[in-house]
Amino acid sequence: MQIATTVAQTRALVKAWKKEGKTIGLVPTMGYLHEGHASLIKKCQEENDIVVVSVFLNPTQFGPTEDLDAYPRDFERDSALCQSLGADLIFHPDPSEMYRDPHAFVSIDMLSDNLCGKTRPIHFKGVCTVVSKLFHIVTPDRAYFGQKDAQQLAIIKKMVQDLNFDIQIIGCPIVREADGLAKSSRNVYLSPEERTAALCLSCAVRKGQEIITTGIDSKIVLTEMRAVIEAEPLARIDYVSVVDALTMQDVEKVDRNVLVAMAVYIGKTRLIDNFSFEV
Ligand code: PAJ
Repeated sequence: MQIATTVAQTRALVKAWKKEGKTIGLVPTMGYLHEGHASLIKKCQEENDIVVVSVFLNPTQFGPTEDLDAYPRDFERDSALCQSLGADLIFHPDPSEMYRDPHAFVSIDMLSDNLCGKTRPIHFKGVCTVVSKLFHIVTPDRAYFGQKDAQQLAIIKKMVQDLNFDIQIIGCPIVREADGLAKSSRNVYLSPEERTAALCLSCAVRKGQEIITTGIDSKIVLTEMRAVIEAEPLARIDYVSVVDALTMQDVEKVDRNVLVAMAVYIGKTRLIDNFSFEV
C-alpha cells in the first residue's frame, strides 16, 4: 500500500494503473476510521482492481462554531486498517495541497437547504467541493458512500448526474454497534451516560420502521419517533423529517419513496440516523 500526500503523486499512480487497464474505486473519508468506513473499503475491494481511500479532514465543510479542531484523528491507525483491508493507496493531503485561497466552490443548492443543510448552511457546499476535487484527482470508475449520511449520498448522486462525472456512485448500508447505535467517528465524544442516551436515535428509527406504511400521514410517524427521543432527558432534537428520497423536501404523506432522517444532540454531540422506505 502506498501513501500519497500530493495531487501530482496520486495522478501519476492512477495514470500507471489505468495504462494497465485496471479499474479504480475510491472511498472518500475524513479519517478516524471505524467499521462503517471498513464496510465501504471492503465493497470497493470486491468491485475494483485498485482501492484508493482518501483520508482528508476537509475544513470547508465545517462551520465556524463546529468541531473541526476537536475532530478525532489517528492516521497511523487509519493506515494500518486500510493496509489490512487491502487498499492500494491512501491519499492523505495537507489542507494547503487541496485549497489555495481564494478558491472555487461546487454547490448543489436544491438538495442542500433542508435537513442537515438547515443548521449547517455551508456544510454540503464544502462536501461537494472536496468530493469534486477528489473525483478529478483520482478519476475513479466507482466511488463508495454510506447511507448513514443519506442527504450527502443524494447530493453526490445529483452532482454526478448534473455535472456529468463519469463515475458510478455506490451507496452502502448503515453499519451499527451491537446495540443499534450507528457507527460514527463522533461517537468518541460521548460520555458513558451519553452513550446510553444516544440509543434513542436507533430506537426512534426502529419505531418509525414499525409504523410506517404506504399512504400514512408523515405527522403520525414523526410524532411517534419524536416521543421516543423526547423521553431521553439528555437528547435535544435538531430535526426529525420525512422527505422525498430524491428531492430531500418534506412530504405530508408517504406516497412515494421517502427518507426518514434525524439529527439529535446528545449533550454537545450532534448525531444523525435515518432509514429509507420504498412504496
Ligand atoms: P466521514 O464521516 O469520514 O465518512 C466517510 C464515509 O463513510 C461516508 O460516505 C459515510 O457515509 C460513511 N460512513 C460513516 N459512518 C458509517 C456507518 N456507520 N455505516 C456506513 N457508512 C458509514 O462523510 C464524510 O466523511 C465526508 O463528508 C466526505 C464524504 C469524506 C467528504 O469530506
